[in-house]
Amino acid sequence: MGYQNISFPENSLFLVTGGAGFIGSNLCEAILSLGYRVRCLDDLSTGKQKNVDIFLENPSYEFIKGDIKDLATCMKACEGVDFVLNQAAWGSVPRSVEMPLFYCANNISGTLNMLEAARQNGVKKFVYASSSSVYGDEPNLPKKEGKEGNLLSPYAVTKRADEEWAKQYTRHYSLDTYGLRYFNVFGRRQDPNGAYAAVIPKFIKQLLSGEVPTINGDGKQSRDFTYIENVIEANLKACLAPREAAGEAFNIAYGGREYLIDIYYGLTAALGVDIEPNFGPDRAGDIKHSNADISKAKELLGYDPEWSFDRGIKAAIEWYRENL
Ligand SMILES: NC(=O)c1ccc[n+]([C@@H]2O[C@H](COP(=O)([O-])OP(=O)(O)OC[C@H]3O[C@@H](n4cnc5c(N)ncnc54)[C@H](O)[C@@H]3O)[C@@H](O)[C@H]2O)c1
Repeated sequence: MGYQNISFPENSLFLVTGGAGFIGSNLCEAILSLGYRVRCLDDLSTGKQKNVDIFLENPSYEFIKGDIKDLATCMKACEGVDFVLNQAAWGSVPRSVEMPLFYCANNISGTLNMLEAARQNGVKKFVYASSSSVYGDEPNLPKKEGKEGNLLSPYAVTKRADEEWAKQYTRHYSLDTYGLRYFNVFGRRQDPNGAYAAVIPKFIKQLLSGEVPTINGDGKQSRDFTYIENVIEANLKACLAPREAAGEAFNIAYGGREYLIDIYYGLTAALGVDIEPNFGPDRAGDIKHSNADISKAKELLGYDPEWSFDRGIKAAIEWYRENL
């Protein structure tokens, strides 16, 4: 279980794109803690300089400020790299509905540049962030790889396209690619601010500062909220996955199902506040329920998540109490 005992060849170099963001900075931290080298490539468009500054004194950490939309930057960043963990992208379903062209350039062409740069530099494994949004309107639960529905947003299109491009790079150029379909990740360093913030950090911050949070819809939507430690485990295990599992995408979640309204009242209880939420309209492009069948990742990547939602949310609350 977990990733603490995973080992790679000595001196391995990981490139984390989007390493100044929430998931990427946690990946950088984990890799450094295991004693390997990390290069972070990020344009700081949604990421934070402070997520870079915390590692800058570590000689095994290197930061390149750059944009994956630029192939030359990707080529340079891939020099000497063993493993790529490609996290750079813009998230948020509603924002992608507002900016489809940007999402196509950033999330699809950017990842394609990274695939090409990884291929040309002889990278061993290319692991990349996909998303549960690729299941679209598929009604059956739990969501299972191979049973995807109609896509509901430009963001989902970008993640689906990334999977298809990665598959081509495995098929034609023997680059070992592994797509990780994250399901609503949460945990330390996730940004609680802004109109497009994820719901858990946003609610924690609002409740801690006495604001009244708004729940979109009736709160009866459910998600497979996944603690960041499980996502780190999946990325590192994918770097050691067999070639036979390349060209595939995997659900990365805990395999549970949490209702938003229950999370809300769980947070008010844990934070010791008595604030009733406002209810707003449903968000365009959102799906009502989502939870994952994680058997494929278990079987082919050896993924074995050890952080339940309850354990993760306690750790997240503790972190936000100390760091907000
Ligand atoms: N957080 C989730 O619940 C979740 C769920 C599904 C998929 N994902 C995917 O996981 C990845 C990481 O998400 P996150 O939650 O950490 O988001 P984040 O916004 O915190 O991190 C993304 C990082 O990518 C960087 N970036 C964006 N475009 C870039 C570009 N063109 N060049 C270089 N850097 C660029 C940003 O500056 C940021 O630091 C994304 O690909 C996202 O789509 C996240």
